[in-house]
Amino acid sequence: MHTHDEQYGYCDLSGNALEPESASIVVFGATGDLARRKIFPALYNLERTGILPADTRVIGFARRELTRERFAAQLREACALYSHSKPLDVEAWERLAGRISYLRGSFDDEGAYRDLALRLAEPGSPANALFYLAVAPEEFAPVARGLAAAGLGCDAVRRAAGSCGPARRLVVEKPFGRDRESARALNAVLQSCFAEDDIFRIDHYLGKETVQNLLYFRFANSIFEPLWNRNHIESVEIDVLETGGIGTRGGYYDRAGAARDMLQNHLIQLLCLVAMEPPAGLDPESVRNEKVKVLKSIRDYSAPELLERSRRGQYSGYAAEDRVAPGSAAETFVSLRLEVDNWRFAGVPFKLRTGKALDRQVSEIRVTFQRPPATLFAGYCGELLSPNVLTLRIQPDEGMWLGFNAKEPGAARVAPKELRFAYRERNDDYFPEAYERLIADALAGDSTLFIRSDETEEAWRIVDALESAWAAGPAPLPYPAGSSGP
Ligand code: BG6
Repeated sequence: MHTHDEQYGYCDLSGNALEPESASIVVFGATGDLARRKIFPALYNLERTGILPADTRVIGFARRELTRERFAAQLREACALYSHSKPLDVEAWERLAGRISYLRGSFDDEGAYRDLALRLAEPGSPANALFYLAVAPEEFAPVARGLAAAGLGCDAVRRAAGSCGPARRLVVEKPFGRDRESARALNAVLQSCFAEDDIFRIDHYLGKETVQNLLYFRFANSIFEPLWNRNHIESVEIDVLETGGIGTRGGYYDRAGAARDMLQNHLIQLLCLVAMEPPAGLDPESVRNEKVKVLKSIRDYSAPELLERSRRGQYSGYAAEDRVAPGSAAETFVSLRLEVDNWRFAGVPFKLRTGKALDRQVSEIRVTFQRPPATLFAGYCGELLSPNVLTLRIQPDEGMWLGFNAKEPGAARVAPKELRFAYRERNDDYFPEAYERLIADALAGDSTLFIRSDETEEAWRIVDALESAWAAGPAPLPYPAGSSGP
C-alpha cells in the first residue's frame, strides 16, 4: 500500500519563486550583536547550502578600526558559535570568507559613502547592491540619506523611469519607529532615497518556517477553511512567551517595553496571518494587501476600553537590570484582547499575550472551535466536554495538533485526544533560521515576507492607542520572575 506521501508526492513551488541574485551585500553595523548572531551565520549557511550566488560579495561597514583579517576571524568565531548547523563547515566558511571585506566609516561621514561607492564599483564586483541596516534605529535615516547622497539609492520616480541601473535594495531592521508618527517620518525618508519595492522591513517572525506554514496550512487544505470564521471559531489565542529576561538590552528595552518590542510586530503579524482572507495570489502585494485589510478592521478602542482589554506587567528584579531607569514603568508583559471587525471574524476575540521572565518558553497559536450543539454529549457534559482546539506551535517542538473527543475504550466516557504532527519527527536534519530565508528573499527582490510601509503604520495605530491609554492608567502589575505573569 502506498503512503499518502508516496501517492501524492511533493508539490514544489520553487519554480515560481524568484531566485537570489548576486549582489554586494553591505552590512552596516557589521561588528554589532545582530550581525554576529544572526546575519553572518545566516550568510554562512546560505553559502553552505549553495543558495548564495557564487559571485556575491560581502562588505562589513562599521566605525571600528579593523583589518580585513581581524574582521573575518571575528566572524568565523561568531559563525561557529551561533550557526544552528554545527560544527563549522570550514570549506564553506573559507569560500564565504574569501569574499568578505571591511570598510571603516562613520555613518554621518559623506566621505565614507563615497569610499563605499568606489568599493562597489571595483572590477569584478556584482552590479546589484543590498544595503543591510543592522544599526541603531536612529541611524536608519542618516544611513539611507548617506547612501542616496553618494548616488547609491534609487527612489520610486527614478526606478519607474528605469534610470537607476542595477538593483539597489535596502533591508531595515526593527524597531521601525517608536509610534505611528515616527514610523511615518521614517517611511518618508526611506522612500525619498529608495523605492518602496526595494525597501525590505524585517520582522524575523515572518522568516520562521512555522510562521510561513500558516499560509500553507490555511490555503493548501480544504478542511479547515470552511470553519475559519465566526460561525465556528470561539476564540484565537496568540502567545509568545519567553523565560529569559532582558539581558544586556536594557538601554533599548527600557524605552520600548513589550508592546513596542513584540506586540507591534511579531504578534500582530501572526494575527494578520491567522485572520487574513485568501489572497488573490502569492505575490507580495496580494498577500500584504490582505494583511493591511485585517489591520484596518481592528477598530479604534477608547482608552477605558483598552484598559479593560489589556494587562501589563513587570517582572520582579527588572528595575535592577542593567541600564533600566529607576522606577521604570516599562512593561515586560502584555496581554491584549482585540477583535477583527470584519464579516469573517466579527465578535471573535483574538487574545494576544507576550512577556519575558515567564515560566514557559513557547510561541504558539491556539484556535478554539465552538462546542457542538447542546444535545447528546455537549448537553450532558457541559463545560466538561473539551472544545476542539487547533494548536499551531511556532517554537519549540514545531508542529501542530488538533484536540478532539473520542470514546474511552472500556468505559462510557468521552475523553480528549489529539492528532499530532511534529516537524522534527520527519525532518530534524535541517530547519533553516529565519534570517536565511529573509536574506535570500531580499537578494531575490521578493518582499512577500517583509513589512510594507502601510502595514507598519497600521500596526502602530493599535499600539499607540494602547500606550496612551496606559500612560494615564495604573502602573504595570508586578509579577515574580519565572511565574506565569501578572
Ligand atoms: C525580538 C525581540 O524581535 O524577538 C526580543 O526584540 C525577543 O525581545 C525576540 O526576545 C524573540 O525572537 P525569537 O525568534 O527568539 O522568538
